[in-house]
Amino acid sequence: MTSFGVERLRGRVAFVTGASSGIGRAVCERLLAAGLRVAACARRVERVRQIAASDDLLPLAADLRQEADILAAFAAVRARWGGTDIVINNAGLGHHAPLSSGDTDHWREMLDVNVLAACVCTREALADMRRSGIDGHVLFVSSMAAHRVPADSAVYSATKFAIRALTEALRQELRAAKSPVRVSAVSPGYVQTEFAAKYHKSEAAAEATYGAYPVLQPDDVAAAVEYALGQPPHVQIHDVLMRPTDQTS
Ligand SMILES: NC(=O)c1ccc[n+]([C@@H]2O[C@H](COP(=O)([O-])OP(=O)(O)OC[C@H]3O[C@@H](n4cnc5c(N)ncnc54)[C@H](OP(=O)(O)O)[C@@H]3O)[C@@H](O)[C@H]2O)c1
Repeated sequence: MTSFGVERLRGRVAFVTGASSGIGRAVCERLLAAGLRVAACARRVERVRQIAASDDLLPLAADLRQEADILAAFAAVRARWGGTDIVINNAGLGHHAPLSSGDTDHWREMLDVNVLAACVCTREALADMRRSGIDGHVLFVSSMAAHRVPADSAVYSATKFAIRALTEALRQELRAAKSPVRVSAVSPGYVQTEFAAKYHKSEAAAEATYGAYPVLQPDDVAAAVEYALGQPPHVQIHDVLMRPTDQTS
């Protein structure tokens, strides 16, 4: 039996979005521990700096709603390490903004960050992977909301259905190009992060969401990311669906 795992990616460069909090931070911690070099971006870059005091961490300030910020972040990775080998499209947010009454700015922010920024990051990372010829990886942090529509989550759920479509579309594009690059998604249910407080604009509602039963922790999702990245070259994990055991929806 050949043993694989994320350790075989030691020295590779991973670009992680949404690194200042929750799942993105946990992914950065796992990848750094496995010996990867991690370009970690978020608006709150001071929180990214706190992940580790290591030359293998490159904290990058970027507002993903601004394409210029994304392009500058990828340029900084090229200047420091030659380019990106793995991209983790994790940054995302939800607003409680029903289709019949929601606020346009809330819809736009979800579409810009959850979908459009993931597209731009994917394109920029793939350009680097093509140049280097590496068997890189594109990974989307999706959601169980890509697989059924939770109540009142119209546009958030639509952004995650978009990610599900993009995952399959990219798989087809990569196969057509005979590329060694793989694409995967991880689709969690409730994870205890800052997400629910932002969604409901209420710490009390977040506590109710995460307090009813043991929910997933960010590192549970990071472990699934590591599992997808660590597969041998002939294995492509398409999507990992994971819920807290007690979640009914
Ligand atoms: N928590 C859950 O229950 C759950 C379930 C399923 C899927 N997910 C998905 O998991 C991913 C990570 O979310 P999380 O739960 O870890 O939430 P979180 O703790 O709120 O983290 C969200 C991250 O996204 C970044 N971000 C948001 N807007 C940004 C912008 N305009 N520019 C740059 N970065 C931005 C935030 O960084 P800054 O604010 O510092 O910029 C933060 O690092 C999201 O795609 C979410 O949809 C979460």
